[in-house]
Amino acid sequence: MFGKRTGDTAPRRVQKPAALPAAPTAAASEMRQTPPKPPSYAAQAAEQRRHSEEYYDVKTTVFNALIDTIDLTQLAKLEIASAREEIRDIVSEIIQIKNVVMSIAEQEELLEDICNDVLGYGPLEPLLARDDIADIMVNGANLTYIEVAGKVQPTNVRFADNLQLMNICQRIVSQVGRRVDESSPICDARLPDGSRVNVIAPPLAIDGPALTIRKFKRDRLNLAQLSKMGTITPEGKTILEIIGRVRCNVLISGGTGSGKTTLLNCLTGSIAHDERIITCEDSAELQLQQPHVVRLETRPPNLEGEGEIKMRDLVRNCLRMRPERIIVGEVRGPEAFDLLQAMNTGHDGSMGTLHSNSPREAISRLESMIMMGGFQLPVRTIREMITGSVDIIVQVARLRDGSRKVTHITEVLGMEGDVVTLQNILVYDITGEDANGRILGRHRSTGIARPRFWERAQYFGEEGKLAEALASAEVLDESGSPLGDLNA
Ligand SMILES: Nc1ncnc2c1ncn2[C@@H]1O[C@H](COP(=O)(O)OP(=O)(O)OP(=O)(O)O)[C@@H](O)[C@H]1O
Ligand SMILES: [Mg+2]
Repeated sequence: MFGKRTGDTAPRRVQKPAALPAAPTAAASEMRQTPPKPPSYAAQAAEQRRHSEEYYDVKTTVFNALIDTIDLTQLAKLEIASAREEIRDIVSEIIQIKNVVMSIAEQEELLEDICNDVLGYGPLEPLLARDDIADIMVNGANLTYIEVAGKVQPTNVRFADNLQLMNICQRIVSQVGRRVDESSPICDARLPDGSRVNVIAPPLAIDGPALTIRKFKRDRLNLAQLSKMGTITPEGKTILEIIGRVRCNVLISGGTGSGKTTLLNCLTGSIAHDERIITCEDSAELQLQQPHVVRLETRPPNLEGEGEIKMRDLVRNCLRMRPERIIVGEVRGPEAFDLLQAMNTGHDGSMGTLHSNSPREAISRLESMIMMGGFQLPVRTIREMITGSVDIIVQVARLRDGSRKVTHITEVLGMEGDVVTLQNILVYDITGEDANGRILGRHRSTGIARPRFWERAQYFGEEGKLAEALASAEVLDESGSPLGDLNA
């Protein structure tokens, strides 16, 4: 065993003190001259600081000495807390032996850094500890971006080299039983906290491994919070709640990172607690609050290219599971056909998201997903199928100031000739921009007093609330009459 905490007397943990250079390294003497940094080594601030080259030199020396000294397999058997203590003790000892002069704050930071490297996700740890980050995007060892409050910004986080980065990627994906290397360079995984991870490694990623993490929000957003943040107005929130409750079939459409999954999660908040819900996702992100939920997740093929379970397999299987509602995390392929069929055959109130930039485009995306799935159906039949299944499309967008908005609540009405007819109920108009570059705008109803789902709302006793929300979401023009659907 190693380490005094385990009660061992011999051999000493630091096996080869003589091998460690007694004289301070050039880097260390450099560090001695740098004034002590303020003791703000809290995770949040750590990555903000620009580490000097010297810091990395000292870290590499200490790190290598540590690796020579400790038995990593023994360390892995310890609880994280005691392993950290072990490492701290040894690192302090190495610092002393090597005569590295550091302030307490620097030493603490170095210790924290090294613990993270050995036990966790290395330089990513401080970013992972932050709750305000939406995405972490690592583009090779030297460049890491984050998204905070809708804005993408660079950080000072860097990895020793691409090998260290690759090892961290490997550590992440191996937790879910996957592997990433040259022979299988693309991998999706999940962190233990639920964050969604994608790794694409060289040779496909030309400048080093690219790691993308969609951080899992511990405090899941709800419609009330979205309304407070201005994503939707209180009236719009009420309309969305009613849409969820009265079992409309809903598709949430939006671009990458526009907030589709978040809104889907919020909408599921309106589902009654006695309904049986089945969710199908590529990477389980939804956090439904109802008790009667079965969560399904797709599976990529194994190294031999076998055993893949696709979204379509899940959606088809869940039809045999007596679902009352089917929720598909993201519709992106031929499962669109099965979802539409399910929506059409008694599973009202099913929901899904899809990637598109407008409600109209969402319809054509659905169409092409079905056509590309090899279903030999005439376009008109596919369109009829869509209009017979989908009731509402909710469009979300991330605007250029980083804010996320529900930009349309749109009904699918039917067909006029060969064209699918849509009707906006609520829209977001951009009216300008303030001095700080923040987008100014307003949500307004389009003056539709009796949407197509009115009868449904009546059936569920929600029509009064719906009428009230629609009326108070109206915006009047100078003459006092409500602004109509300018987008029509
Ligand atoms: N209305 C909102 N206001 C502020 N932040 C939001 C809002 N909606 C989502 N977010 C944040 O934006 C990030 C992306 O959200 P989400 O995962 O829902 O997007 P998405 O459209 O599903 O992305 P993808 O296309 O990658 O699946 C998350 O960190 C989430 O917390
Ligand atoms: Mg999503």
